[in-house]
Amino acid sequence: MTPLNIPEWQSLDRHYSDIKFLSMREQFALDSSRFEHFSVYSGDLLLDYSKNRITQETMEKLFALADAVELKDWTKRMFNGELINHTEGRAVLHTALRNRSNEPVMVDGQDVMPQVNAVLEKMADFCATVHEGRWLGFTGKRMTDIVNIGIGGSDLGPAMICDALEPYAIDGLSVHFVSNVDGTDLSTTLEQLNPETTLFVVASKTFTTQETLTNAQSARNWFLKSGQQTDVAKHFVAVSTNAEEVSKFGINTDNMFEIWDWVGGRYSLWSAIGLPIALYVGFDNFSRLLDGGHQMDKHFRDQPLAQNIPAIMGLLGIWYINFFNAQTHAIVPYDHSLARFPSHMQQLDMESNGKFINRQGARISYKTGPVIWGTPGTNGQHAYFQLIHQGTQLIPVDFVLPVNSHYPDCDHQSILLANGLAQAEALMKGKTAEEVRAELVAGGLEGKALEALLPHKVFPGNRPSNVLLFPKLTPEMLGQLVALYEHKVFVQGVIWNINSFDQWGVELGKQLAKAILPDLRDDNDISTHDSSTTELIRLIRQLRQ
Ligand code: F6P
Repeated sequence: MTPLNIPEWQSLDRHYSDIKFLSMREQFALDSSRFEHFSVYSGDLLLDYSKNRITQETMEKLFALADAVELKDWTKRMFNGELINHTEGRAVLHTALRNRSNEPVMVDGQDVMPQVNAVLEKMADFCATVHEGRWLGFTGKRMTDIVNIGIGGSDLGPAMICDALEPYAIDGLSVHFVSNVDGTDLSTTLEQLNPETTLFVVASKTFTTQETLTNAQSARNWFLKSGQQTDVAKHFVAVSTNAEEVSKFGINTDNMFEIWDWVGGRYSLWSAIGLPIALYVGFDNFSRLLDGGHQMDKHFRDQPLAQNIPAIMGLLGIWYINFFNAQTHAIVPYDHSLARFPSHMQQLDMESNGKFINRQGARISYKTGPVIWGTPGTNGQHAYFQLIHQGTQLIPVDFVLPVNSHYPDCDHQSILLANGLAQAEALMKGKTAEEVRAELVAGGLEGKALEALLPHKVFPGNRPSNVLLFPKLTPEMLGQLVALYEHKVFVQGVIWNINSFDQWGVELGKQLAKAILPDLRDDNDISTHDSSTTELIRLIRQLRQ
């Protein structure tokens, strides 16, 4: 039940005591093939994990732990549509959404692939009508702007992919994402738009999410200032599991793209939730994204652990979180178009593995999901890298490095890559007191001034990082990358014996917001809250203009 009692975990614990001070610098000096020993490919995607505090023995022990928790068996169970999301009684089948082999995937005795393919076909047809100018607005004009209204998984993934695939965008079509219930988000988006040429995609798996429905309602009110009720069908489509609510909202269910309860919100960009992606970059490029996801699925399902990128990255995470006590993990893409990648990964990882109860319902006595964060390099270097280099916490970093840019270059890309590689090297090597001393002496410093400055310029080094390197950020490569992190999260969830696919923790805040809302709206007596919340409600009522 608890990994702490597994002999392989205990063996790792002892091993940690033996090698916790192992110097990566020394290991590199001792073994000129360290890179070869600790790097692995999936197609064109390289994982270099040589700059980690590991030996061959560490990896063997981590693989033994994965075997002991039956990772391969759990993987099969996921791919085969077993109800592994047991608290919701659901299968977990984002892999079926990108199952390009089309092999049957059974849920409750039924193959889901015909439904998956039918929705993909409907998406392809719809994209064609929009792109070819056959889908016309209420004044007969073609669409110029797509506005996706959704939040969480119904926003972050598609928004990230659209940013990342901007070089593939279809001419004449812009995409916008509105997620925040803060009216600023919708208002500032609508300001730029013409209702005659705007198509809203209301994306909500449940179609009950307060933020999304509020934004969709306001968008419809904005539209109705120009169009008629009967024109709504030309300007609003929906993506959901919930035909009844879609229809109640006033969207014709012919214009609804179906998803299923076995698609988790944060794993849904591969489904019809990806409609804004397909509209923005074209259905062929959306298909290429699915191809990449499928490639990573095959890699994860079929490769032995020692060649398996998601397994290796997941296990390294366990090594740092549970043995080195790391609390956070940074993901730093050296690609400006991946600016939203860390946010998507944040939801993917933290909503999946932010759990304190194991699969059997008992409280957990070991650490689970880390805080995931990051921003693109090189900007991060001038903001928070100081703490990663010289702070008191150990923060593993993933550097995501595309070799080639989509944009005319003039040497920018070499400078960008040099910076990414330099950060990884500096984190590993650090700078010793002797090196600092030599540098200061060479700079003409001596005596007390030298001694006073010296400790501040020492870098401890020995700080771990992974490098993910690939030729170019194509749709296939992006598909591989996202699927890789999805499987990494799965690996860690299996080892921690948690259900990575529910998210009960977000419910309490939603319930309380519903209870507070009437108290903010009315001047009646405030219902029961703690004294802090009550006084804050009073103050807001007073200050409200
Ligand atoms: O925040 C919880 C959550 O349920 C996410 O898991 C989900 O992606 C998001 O809300 C949006 O949900 P929906 O797509 O049902 O509107």
